[in-house]
Amino acid sequence: MKVLVTGGAGYVGGVSVDALLAAGHEVVVLDDLSTGHAGSVHPEARLVSGTYTDEEGTRHLLEREGVNAILHCAARSLVAESMANPARYYRENVAGGVALLEAARAAGVLRVVFSSSAATYGVPDATPITEDAPLRPINAYGETKRAFEGALRWYGAAYGLRSAILRYFNVAGATERLGEVHRPETHLIPNLLIAGEGGPALTLFGEDYPTPDGTPIRDYIHVADLADAHVAALVATDPSDARTGPVAGGPTEPVIANLGTSSGFSVRDVLREAEAVIGKPIPHTVGARRAGDPPVLVASNGRAREVLGWTARRSTLPEMIGSAWAWRRAHPEGYGD
Ligand SMILES: NC(=O)c1ccc[n+]([C@@H]2O[C@H](COP(=O)([O-])OP(=O)(O)OC[C@H]3O[C@@H](n4cnc5c(N)ncnc54)[C@H](O)[C@@H]3O)[C@@H](O)[C@H]2O)c1
Repeated sequence: MKVLVTGGAGYVGGVSVDALLAAGHEVVVLDDLSTGHAGSVHPEARLVSGTYTDEEGTRHLLEREGVNAILHCAARSLVAESMANPARYYRENVAGGVALLEAARAAGVLRVVFSSSAATYGVPDATPITEDAPLRPINAYGETKRAFEGALRWYGAAYGLRSAILRYFNVAGATERLGEVHRPETHLIPNLLIAGEGGPALTLFGEDYPTPDGTPIRDYIHVADLADAHVAALVATDPSDARTGPVAGGPTEPVIANLGTSSGFSVRDVLREAEAVIGKPIPHTVGARRAGDPPVLVASNGRAREVLGWTARRSTLPEMIGSAWAWRRAHPEGYGD
Protein backbone atom coordinates (compact mmCIF):
# COMPACT_ATOMS: atom_id res chain seq x y z
CA MET A 1 0.00 0.00 0.00
CA LYS A 2 0.98 3.64 -0.29
CA VAL A 3 1.02 5.44 3.05
CA LEU A 4 1.11 9.15 3.83
CA VAL A 5 3.07 9.64 7.05
CA THR A 6 2.48 13.03 8.66
CA GLY A 7 5.44 13.93 10.86
CA GLY A 8 7.61 11.39 9.04
CA ALA A 9 10.68 13.59 9.58
CA GLY A 10 10.22 13.27 13.36
CA TYR A 11 11.39 10.65 15.83
CA VAL A 12 8.49 8.17 15.85
CA GLY A 13 7.37 8.98 12.30
CA GLY A 14 10.86 8.50 10.88
CA VAL A 15 11.37 5.06 12.39
CA SER A 16 7.86 4.11 11.25
CA VAL A 17 8.67 5.24 7.68
CA ASP A 18 11.70 2.93 7.70
CA ALA A 19 9.59 0.02 9.02
CA LEU A 20 6.92 0.59 6.35
CA LEU A 21 9.54 0.64 3.59
CA ALA A 22 11.15 -2.51 5.00
CA ALA A 23 7.73 -4.19 4.91
CA GLY A 24 7.44 -3.38 1.20
CA HIS A 25 5.08 -0.38 1.32
CA GLU A 26 5.48 2.95 -0.46
CA VAL A 27 5.73 6.09 1.64
CA VAL A 28 5.07 9.80 1.18
CA VAL A 29 6.07 12.01 4.12
CA LEU A 30 4.20 15.25 4.83
CA ASP A 31 6.16 17.31 7.34
CA ASP A 32 6.47 21.04 7.99
CA LEU A 33 9.90 20.45 9.59
CA SER A 34 8.87 22.47 12.66
CA THR A 35 10.48 19.90 14.97
CA GLY A 36 11.60 17.27 12.45
CA HIS A 37 14.74 16.86 10.38
CA ALA A 38 14.73 16.68 6.59
CA GLY A 39 18.00 14.73 6.73
CA SER A 40 16.37 11.94 8.72
CA VAL A 41 13.86 10.95 6.02
CA HIS A 42 14.71 7.70 4.26
CA PRO A 43 15.81 8.35 0.66
CA GLU A 44 13.19 5.91 -0.67
CA ALA A 45 10.37 7.97 0.86
CA ARG A 46 9.18 11.13 -0.86
CA LEU A 47 9.37 14.14 1.48
CA VAL A 48 6.79 16.86 0.89
CA SER A 49 7.37 19.95 2.98
CA GLY A 50 4.04 21.32 4.18
CA THR A 51 1.40 21.15 6.85
CA TYR A 52 -1.39 18.61 7.24
CA THR A 53 -3.56 21.45 8.55
CA ASP A 54 -3.87 22.75 4.95
CA GLU A 55 -6.98 20.86 3.86
CA GLU A 56 -6.81 21.72 0.15
CA GLY A 57 -3.10 21.06 -0.17
CA THR A 58 -3.38 17.74 1.65
CA ARG A 59 -6.32 16.62 -0.48
CA HIS A 60 -4.35 17.36 -3.67
CA LEU A 61 -1.36 15.49 -2.29
CA LEU A 62 -3.45 12.43 -1.37
CA GLU A 63 -5.08 12.39 -4.80
CA ARG A 64 -1.91 13.07 -6.77
CA GLU A 65 0.05 10.36 -4.95
CA GLY A 66 -2.76 7.80 -4.92
CA VAL A 67 -2.40 7.31 -1.16
CA ASN A 68 -4.25 4.33 0.40
CA ALA A 69 -3.81 5.04 4.12
CA ILE A 70 -2.55 7.73 6.51
CA LEU A 71 -0.26 7.37 9.51
CA HIS A 72 -0.82 10.56 11.50
CA CYS A 73 2.22 11.13 13.72
CA ALA A 74 2.59 14.92 13.40
CA ALA A 75 1.46 16.99 16.37
CA ARG A 76 2.43 19.65 18.82
CA SER A 77 3.50 17.55 21.78
CA LEU A 78 5.05 19.59 24.59
CA VAL A 79 2.99 19.40 27.76
CA ALA A 80 4.25 22.67 29.28
CA GLU A 81 3.74 24.57 26.02
CA SER A 82 0.21 23.17 25.79
CA MET A 83 -0.61 24.64 29.20
CA ALA A 84 0.80 28.07 28.28
CA ASN A 85 -0.64 28.14 24.76
CA PRO A 86 -3.64 25.81 24.50
CA ALA A 87 -4.89 27.75 21.46
CA ARG A 88 -1.97 26.46 19.41
CA TYR A 89 -2.69 22.89 20.52
CA TYR A 90 -6.40 23.06 19.72
CA ARG A 91 -5.70 24.82 16.41
CA GLU A 92 -3.13 22.29 15.20
CA ASN A 93 -3.88 18.97 16.94
CA VAL A 94 -7.67 19.25 16.84
CA ALA A 95 -8.79 21.72 14.14
CA GLY A 96 -5.78 20.84 11.94
CA GLY A 97 -6.45 17.15 12.53
CA VAL A 98 -10.01 17.58 11.33
CA ALA A 99 -8.70 19.39 8.24
CA LEU A 100 -6.58 16.30 7.57
CA LEU A 101 -9.62 14.03 8.01
CA GLU A 102 -11.67 16.21 5.67
CA ALA A 103 -8.91 16.09 3.07
CA ALA A 104 -8.82 12.30 3.48
CA ARG A 105 -12.59 12.00 3.17
CA ALA A 106 -12.64 14.15 0.02
CA ALA A 107 -9.82 12.07 -1.49
CA GLY A 108 -11.55 8.81 -0.52
CA VAL A 109 -8.76 7.74 1.87
CA LEU A 110 -10.75 6.14 4.69
CA ARG A 111 -7.86 4.54 6.59
CA VAL A 112 -6.03 6.31 9.45
CA VAL A 113 -3.65 5.24 12.20
CA PHE A 114 -3.18 7.86 14.91
CA SER A 115 -0.31 8.56 17.34
CA SER A 116 -2.15 9.02 20.62
CA SER A 117 -0.71 9.08 24.09
CA ALA A 118 -0.93 7.78 27.64
CA ALA A 119 -1.54 11.48 28.43
CA THR A 120 -5.19 10.84 27.53
CA TYR A 121 -5.61 8.84 30.76
CA GLY A 122 -4.40 11.51 33.20
CA VAL A 123 -3.97 10.05 36.67
CA PRO A 124 -5.26 6.48 36.46
CA ASP A 125 -7.32 4.78 39.17
CA ALA A 126 -5.59 1.46 38.62
CA THR A 127 -2.42 0.09 37.04
CA PRO A 128 -1.64 -1.45 34.56
CA ILE A 129 -3.95 0.84 32.58
CA THR A 130 -6.37 -0.83 30.18
CA GLU A 131 -7.81 0.90 27.12
CA ASP A 132 -11.23 1.01 28.80
CA ALA A 133 -9.95 3.15 31.68
CA PRO A 134 -11.57 6.59 31.87
CA LEU A 135 -9.91 9.33 29.80
CA ARG A 136 -9.29 12.27 32.14
CA PRO A 137 -6.32 14.18 30.73
CA ILE A 138 -4.71 16.65 33.11
CA ASN A 139 -3.04 18.84 30.48
CA ALA A 140 -4.13 20.52 27.26
CA TYR A 141 -1.86 18.28 25.16
CA GLY A 142 -3.60 15.12 26.43
CA GLU A 143 -6.98 16.78 26.01
CA THR A 144 -6.28 17.51 22.33
CA LYS A 145 -5.25 13.87 21.80
CA ARG A 146 -8.51 12.77 23.42
CA ALA A 147 -10.51 15.19 21.26
CA PHE A 148 -8.97 13.88 18.04
CA GLU A 149 -9.61 10.29 19.15
CA GLY A 150 -13.26 11.33 19.44
CA ALA A 151 -13.21 12.73 15.90
CA LEU A 152 -11.90 9.40 14.60
CA ARG A 153 -14.69 7.56 16.38
CA TRP A 154 -17.42 9.77 14.92
CA TYR A 155 -15.88 9.71 11.44
CA GLY A 156 -16.07 5.92 11.71
CA ALA A 157 -19.72 6.00 12.74
CA ALA A 158 -20.79 8.49 10.08
CA TYR A 159 -18.39 7.98 7.16
CA GLY A 160 -17.02 4.47 7.64
CA LEU A 161 -13.45 5.69 8.38
CA ARG A 162 -11.37 2.67 9.46
CA SER A 163 -8.92 3.73 12.15
CA ALA A 164 -6.53 2.54 14.80
CA ILE A 165 -5.63 4.66 17.82
CA LEU A 166 -2.27 3.81 19.36
CA ARG A 167 -1.68 5.20 22.84
CA TYR A 168 2.08 5.34 23.37
CA PHE A 169 3.63 5.26 26.81
CA ASN A 170 7.28 6.51 27.04
CA VAL A 171 9.02 6.07 23.71
CA ALA A 172 12.79 5.50 23.82
CA GLY A 173 15.77 4.06 21.97
CA ALA A 174 17.16 4.37 18.47
CA THR A 175 17.73 2.34 15.35
CA GLU A 176 21.11 2.28 13.64
CA ARG A 177 19.93 5.07 11.31
CA LEU A 178 17.59 7.16 13.45
CA GLY A 179 17.76 8.59 16.96
CA GLU A 180 15.92 11.13 19.08
CA VAL A 181 16.71 14.83 18.61
CA HIS A 182 14.16 17.20 20.13
CA ARG A 183 14.70 20.88 20.92
CA PRO A 184 13.85 21.38 23.69
CA GLU A 185 14.41 17.82 24.87
CA THR A 186 11.91 16.87 27.56
CA HIS A 187 12.40 13.09 27.67
CA LEU A 188 14.32 11.38 30.47
CA ILE A 189 16.67 9.07 28.56
CA PRO A 190 18.12 11.61 26.08
CA ASN A 191 18.44 14.14 28.90
CA LEU A 192 20.37 11.60 30.99
CA LEU A 193 22.70 10.95 28.07
CA ILE A 194 23.13 14.69 27.44
CA ALA A 195 24.04 15.12 31.13
CA GLY A 196 26.47 12.21 30.80
CA GLU A 197 28.11 13.93 27.83
CA GLY A 198 28.81 17.02 29.92
CA GLY A 199 25.55 18.88 29.27
CA PRO A 200 23.33 20.31 32.02
CA ALA A 201 22.93 18.08 35.09
CA LEU A 202 19.66 16.17 35.16
CA THR A 203 16.97 17.22 37.64
CA LEU A 204 14.95 14.38 39.19
CA PHE A 205 11.52 15.83 39.78
CA GLY A 206 10.62 14.51 43.21
CA GLU A 207 11.67 11.46 45.20
CA ASP A 208 8.81 11.36 47.65
CA TYR A 209 6.34 9.45 45.49
CA PRO A 210 4.65 6.32 46.87
CA THR A 211 6.96 4.02 44.86
CA PRO A 212 9.74 1.72 46.16
CA ASP A 213 12.55 4.27 45.62
CA GLY A 214 10.35 7.40 45.74
CA THR A 215 10.74 8.32 42.05
CA PRO A 216 7.95 7.98 39.47
CA ILE A 217 7.56 4.73 37.54
CA ARG A 218 7.01 4.77 33.77
CA ASP A 219 6.57 2.19 31.01
CA TYR A 220 9.25 2.54 28.29
CA ILE A 221 8.79 1.24 24.76
CA HIS A 222 11.46 0.95 22.06
CA VAL A 223 10.72 3.18 19.08
CA ALA A 224 11.36 0.27 16.69
CA ASP A 225 8.79 -1.88 18.53
CA LEU A 226 6.38 1.04 18.21
CA ALA A 227 7.06 1.19 14.47
CA ASP A 228 6.20 -2.51 14.12
CA ALA A 229 2.83 -1.82 15.76
CA HIS A 230 2.16 0.96 13.25
CA VAL A 231 2.74 -1.34 10.31
CA ALA A 232 0.41 -3.94 11.86
CA ALA A 233 -2.24 -1.30 12.59
CA LEU A 234 -2.11 0.08 9.03
CA VAL A 235 -2.64 -3.43 7.67
CA ALA A 236 -5.64 -3.78 10.01
CA THR A 237 -7.33 -0.75 8.39
CA ASP A 238 -7.63 -2.59 5.06
CA PRO A 239 -11.30 -2.68 3.97
CA SER A 240 -11.11 -6.48 3.84
CA ASP A 241 -9.97 -6.65 7.47
CA ALA A 242 -12.85 -7.12 9.93
CA ARG A 243 -10.78 -5.81 12.88
CA THR A 244 -11.50 -2.19 11.91
CA GLY A 245 -15.07 -2.57 10.67
CA PRO A 246 -17.50 -4.60 8.63
CA VAL A 247 -16.01 -5.92 5.39
CA ALA A 248 -19.15 -4.86 3.52
CA GLY A 249 -18.69 -1.25 4.67
CA GLY A 250 -20.84 0.79 7.04
CA PRO A 251 -20.21 2.24 10.50
CA THR A 252 -16.91 1.36 12.16
CA GLU A 253 -15.27 1.63 15.59
CA PRO A 254 -11.57 2.46 15.98
CA VAL A 255 -9.21 -0.23 17.24
CA ILE A 256 -7.65 1.30 20.37
CA ALA A 257 -4.42 -0.16 21.72
CA ASN A 258 -1.88 0.87 24.34
CA LEU A 259 1.75 0.51 23.33
CA GLY A 260 3.94 -0.27 26.31
CA THR A 261 5.60 -3.32 27.85
CA SER A 262 3.28 -3.68 30.87
CA SER A 263 6.30 -3.25 33.15
CA GLY A 264 7.63 -0.11 34.73
CA PHE A 265 10.94 1.40 35.70
CA SER A 266 11.54 4.21 38.18
CA VAL A 267 13.53 7.29 37.29
CA ARG A 268 16.32 5.96 39.51
CA ASP A 269 16.24 2.57 37.69
CA VAL A 270 16.72 4.42 34.40
CA LEU A 271 19.48 6.61 35.86
CA ARG A 272 21.33 3.52 37.14
CA GLU A 273 21.07 1.75 33.79
CA ALA A 274 22.20 4.85 31.88
CA GLU A 275 25.26 5.10 34.14
CA ALA A 276 26.02 1.43 33.42
CA VAL A 277 25.68 2.02 29.66
CA ILE A 278 27.94 5.05 29.51
CA GLY A 279 30.29 3.72 32.17
CA LYS A 280 30.38 6.71 34.50
CA PRO A 281 28.22 8.61 37.00
CA ILE A 282 25.67 11.03 35.55
CA PRO A 283 25.47 14.40 37.32
CA HIS A 284 21.99 15.00 38.73
CA THR A 285 20.13 16.95 41.36
CA VAL A 286 16.80 16.31 43.03
CA GLY A 287 14.10 18.95 42.62
CA ALA A 288 10.47 19.32 43.61
CA ARG A 289 7.69 17.24 42.08
CA ARG A 290 6.21 18.56 38.83
CA ALA A 291 2.51 19.31 38.97
CA GLY A 292 0.50 16.55 37.34
CA ASP A 293 3.13 13.77 37.34
CA PRO A 294 1.32 10.59 38.42
CA PRO A 295 3.38 8.18 40.58
CA VAL A 296 2.95 5.20 38.24
CA LEU A 297 2.01 4.94 34.55
CA VAL A 298 2.18 1.40 33.19
CA ALA A 299 0.25 0.08 30.19
CA SER A 300 -1.74 -3.06 29.90
CA ASN A 301 -0.62 -4.24 26.44
CA GLY A 302 -2.92 -7.25 26.01
CA ARG A 303 -5.06 -5.53 23.37
CA ALA A 304 -2.08 -4.81 21.09
CA ARG A 305 -1.00 -8.44 21.41
CA GLU A 306 -4.43 -9.90 20.80
CA VAL A 307 -5.74 -7.58 18.10
CA LEU A 308 -2.56 -6.53 16.30
CA GLY A 309 -0.52 -9.68 16.96
CA TRP A 310 2.19 -7.34 18.27
CA THR A 311 4.83 -7.97 20.91
CA ALA A 312 7.61 -5.73 22.16
CA ARG A 313 10.84 -7.43 21.12
CA ARG A 314 13.49 -4.83 21.88
CA SER A 315 12.07 -2.90 24.84
CA THR A 316 14.52 -3.79 27.61
CA LEU A 317 16.20 -0.89 29.41
CA PRO A 318 19.73 -1.92 28.30
CA GLU A 319 18.56 -2.16 24.66
CA MET A 320 16.70 1.17 24.70
CA ILE A 321 19.41 3.15 26.50
CA GLY A 322 22.24 1.29 24.73
CA SER A 323 20.82 1.98 21.26
CA ALA A 324 20.15 5.64 22.10
CA TRP A 325 23.73 6.01 23.35
CA ALA A 326 25.21 4.20 20.32
CA TRP A 327 23.28 6.52 17.99
CA ARG A 328 24.46 9.66 19.81
CA ARG A 329 28.07 8.47 19.64
CA ALA A 330 27.78 7.71 15.92
CA HIS A 331 26.01 11.03 15.20
CA PRO A 332 27.58 13.68 17.45
CA GLU A 333 26.05 16.43 15.31
CA GLY A 334 22.59 14.84 15.33
CA TYR A 335 21.10 15.38 11.89
CA GLY A 336 23.38 18.33 11.25
CA ASP A 337 20.59 20.92 11.32
N1 LIG B 1 7.88 10.56 21.85
C1 LIG B 1 7.03 10.14 22.79
O1 LIG B 1 7.45 9.67 23.88
C2 LIG B 1 5.54 10.18 22.54
C3 LIG B 1 4.69 9.65 23.52
C4 LIG B 1 3.31 9.65 23.27
C5 LIG B 1 2.82 10.17 22.09
N2 LIG B 1 3.66 10.72 21.18
C6 LIG B 1 3.09 11.27 19.94
O2 LIG B 1 3.79 10.69 18.86
C7 LIG B 1 3.86 11.61 17.78
C8 LIG B 1 5.29 11.76 17.31
O3 LIG B 1 6.10 12.19 18.40
P1 LIG B 1 7.66 12.43 18.20
O4 LIG B 1 8.30 12.25 19.51
O5 LIG B 1 8.12 11.66 17.04
O6 LIG B 1 7.66 14.00 17.86
P2 LIG B 1 8.59 14.80 16.82
O7 LIG B 1 8.47 16.23 17.22
O8 LIG B 1 9.94 14.19 16.75
O9 LIG B 1 7.87 14.56 15.44
C9 LIG B 1 6.73 15.28 15.03
C10 LIG B 1 6.91 15.60 13.56
O10 LIG B 1 5.73 16.25 13.08
C11 LIG B 1 6.11 17.38 12.31
N3 LIG B 1 5.00 18.32 12.37
C12 LIG B 1 4.53 19.01 13.44
N4 LIG B 1 3.47 19.77 13.08
C13 LIG B 1 3.26 19.55 11.76
C14 LIG B 1 2.32 20.02 10.82
N5 LIG B 1 1.37 20.90 11.16
N6 LIG B 1 2.37 19.56 9.54
C15 LIG B 1 3.33 18.67 9.17
N7 LIG B 1 4.26 18.18 10.02
C16 LIG B 1 4.22 18.63 11.31
C17 LIG B 1 7.39 17.86 12.95
O11 LIG B 1 8.18 18.66 12.08
C18 LIG B 1 8.07 16.54 13.28
O12 LIG B 1 8.83 16.06 12.20
C19 LIG B 1 3.22 12.90 18.27
O13 LIG B 1 1.88 12.91 17.81
C20 LIG B 1 3.27 12.76 19.77
O14 LIG B 1 2.23 13.48 20.38
C21 LIG B 1 5.03 10.72 21.36
